[in-house]
Amino acid sequence: MRLRDKVILLTGAGSGIGKSTALLFAKEGASVIVNDLDPESGNDTVVEILKENGEAIFIQADVTDAESVKSMVNKAINQYKRIDILFNNAGISGVGKLHEVDIDAWNKTMNVNINGVMLPSKFVIPHMMKQKKGSIINMSSCIAEMGLANRASYSTTKGAILALTKSMQVDYARYNIRVNAILPGTIFTPFVENYLKQSYENPEEAIEQIKTRQLSGELGKPEDVAYAALFLASDESKFMMGSPLYIDGGVVFGKDA
Ligand SMILES: NC(=O)c1ccc[n+]([C@@H]2O[C@H](COP(=O)([O-])OP(=O)(O)OC[C@H]3O[C@@H](n4cnc5c(N)ncnc54)[C@H](O)[C@@H]3O)[C@@H](O)[C@H]2O)c1
Repeated sequence: MRLRDKVILLTGAGSGIGKSTALLFAKEGASVIVNDLDPESGNDTVVEILKENGEAIFIQADVTDAESVKSMVNKAINQYKRIDILFNNAGISGVGKLHEVDIDAWNKTMNVNINGVMLPSKFVIPHMMKQKKGSIINMSSCIAEMGLANRASYSTTKGAILALTKSMQVDYARYNIRVNAILPGTIFTPFVENYLKQSYENPEEAIEQIKTRQLSGELGKPEDVAYAALFLASDESKFMMGSPLYIDGGVVFGKDA
């Protein structure tokens, strides 16, 4: 029960890393506000939590839409009176080299992955400032620290999130709000399955290739990231501020040849 009596707002919690984190946080005693664009998958996450006697509600919102996010935060505060932890997890992929990229697709990736972190933060932070406590976790990626082929738009967004995390931390440290970033390597989720289909003729072969660039020799699992988020969410990480936390199977710092 490492999150007993804590209230968490988790964006993009209908699938992959967000869903796995929602289930883990509920098991650890948190009340989980499950957000997703997709009501079906978001509601499924809530049903799974309730089945295990956890506490959760679903609030549908598009993290790129200011009114929708504002209304989500108001509903959450009406229900639970506080938000202790905000996990800005929702995100989408973006493939292609810069000169080939479709401009609408580029703008969408910027909007979801950057404004989708800015907007929930903007509306939750005033409540955390009043509480004089909070933990914000921003989803970056190890791609913020390394070049990877055909990922121009996506890497731009995740680098921006790392910079934003540090800047937010400086502004809100005086309110006892901590802001840290998670940088996963390749984690096997529907997001990666889609990316593989879009980018490779033979996705199975691509998985084998990706495995070799991680020292672990395996892709990560959503729960590997959920456990890292649990640490950042809990007071156990109270001395971590503005930090990148790598959950990447050794892809950034290790080279085996
Ligand atoms: N899977 C990986 O290898 C990996 C690696 C590094 C970082 N990440 C990041 O982790 C996060 C989660 O990725 P995942 O692999 O679990 O993806 P996923 O596709 O399984 O889940 C993402 C969820 O976000 C939701 N979402 C998308 N746009 C939204 C919007 N506008 N408003 C609200 N919800 C929205 C989707 O409906 C989906 O349920 C993303 O930010 C991703 O960039 C993933």
